[in-house]
Amino acid sequence: MRSDMKYKIEDEFVEFERALTRFLTPEHRKDDPVWLAARYSTLSGGKRVRPRLLFMTCRLFSDNLPPETMAFAAAIEMIHTYSLIHDDLPAMDDDDFRRGQPACHRQFGEATAILAGDLLLNRAFETASASCIESGRPEAISAFWWMATMAGGEGMILGQSLDLAMDGRHREGEMRRYTSSATVSEKDDITSIELVREMVALKTGCLIRAAVGAGARLSGASSDDMTRLDQFASSLGLLFQIRDDILDVISDREMLGKTIGKDARDQKKTYVTVLGEEQARQALDEVTRDAEEVLDALEAEGHKTDELRDYTRDLTNRIT
Ligand code: IPE
Ligand code: IPE
Ligand code: MG
Ligand code: MG
Ligand code: MG
Repeated sequence: MRSDMKYKIEDEFVEFERALTRFLTPEHRKDDPVWLAARYSTLSGGKRVRPRLLFMTCRLFSDNLPPETMAFAAAIEMIHTYSLIHDDLPAMDDDDFRRGQPACHRQFGEATAILAGDLLLNRAFETASASCIESGRPEAISAFWWMATMAGGEGMILGQSLDLAMDGRHREGEMRRYTSSATVSEKDDITSIELVREMVALKTGCLIRAAVGAGARLSGASSDDMTRLDQFASSLGLLFQIRDDILDVISDREMLGKTIGKDARDQKKTYVTVLGEEQARQALDEVTRDAEEVLDALEAEGHKTDELRDYTRDLTNRIT
C-alpha cells in the first residue's frame, strides 16, 4: 500500500498535503492547543483513502480535475480525522494509539481532543463551502450537500452510535439507558450479521460514499453513473471495514499504527467477532466481487476504471 506510485494521483498528493496543511494553519492563533491538536492528528500519515477515492472518481470523467476538488478532498480527510479523534476517546473506543503515535487525547488531554474534533468538522465545512462560493457551480453545492449528509446523523454519526450501542462495554454501562430497544436488543447478546452490516455501512461506508459521490457530483456525472458509483462506494465501504476488522486480529501495532486485539476485548460487534475470521474473509471476497461488478458495468459504459480497480484490490489485501 505504501508503494502506491502506480496511481496517477501521486503528483496531486504533494499538492494535497500542502493544501491540507494550509487549511489547518490559519494566520492568527495557529499555535493555540486546539489547532496544534488538529494538525497533530491530521498531518500524521493517514492513508488518505477517501481523498484518493475522490481524485480517482473525478478522473473517471476527466483528467482536468474540477476546481473544488482539492478543497473537498481536504474537507473529507478533516471529517474522517475528526471521527477518528472522537472514536479514540475514553467514552468511545478508549484507544490510546493512532496513526503510529499517541491518540489526540493522550497527547493533548480529553477536552482539547474533543474541541480539535469539533474544529476539524467545522473547518471541513468552511473549506468546502468557500470553494463552492468561489466557483459558484451548482454541482459543487450538490457535492457539499452530499458530503454533509453522509457525515451526519443519518450517516457516519448514526453508524458510530449504533456501534457503541452494540458494544458490550457500553451495553453494560450508561449506553444501555440511551439505546432504543427497537434497534438493538438490550437483553440478548446475539447480534445478527445483518445488523453489523447496517452499522458498518453507516459508520465506515458513508464517508467512502461521501468521497466517491462528491467526486461524481463535482464532475457532473449522469444520474445513472451516480447510482452505479454509489453502489461501488457502498461495497467498498463494507470491504474497507471488514478488512479493518480482520487486521484487528492478524496485524500488529507497529505495522498498523493503532492498537490491535481491542475488538474482542471490548466485545465489539465486528465481522470477525460475529462470524469468525474465515467467514469474514469470505464476506470480504463477496463484497470485493460486488465492487468489481459495478466497475465492470462502468467500464462497459466507456469509463476507464483501471485505477479504481487496482485500488479496490489493494484495499482488499491491505496490511496497513
Ligand atoms: C480507520 O480508517 C477507521 C475505519 C473506518 C476503519 P483508516 O484506516 O482510513 O485510517 P487512516 O486514515 O489511514 O489513519
Ligand atoms: C471506526 O471504526 C469508524 C469511524 C467512523 C471512526 P473502528 O473503531 O473499527 O476504527 P479503528 O479500528 O478504531 O480505526
Ligand atoms: Mg469505533
Ligand atoms: Mg476504534
Ligand atoms: Mg477497527
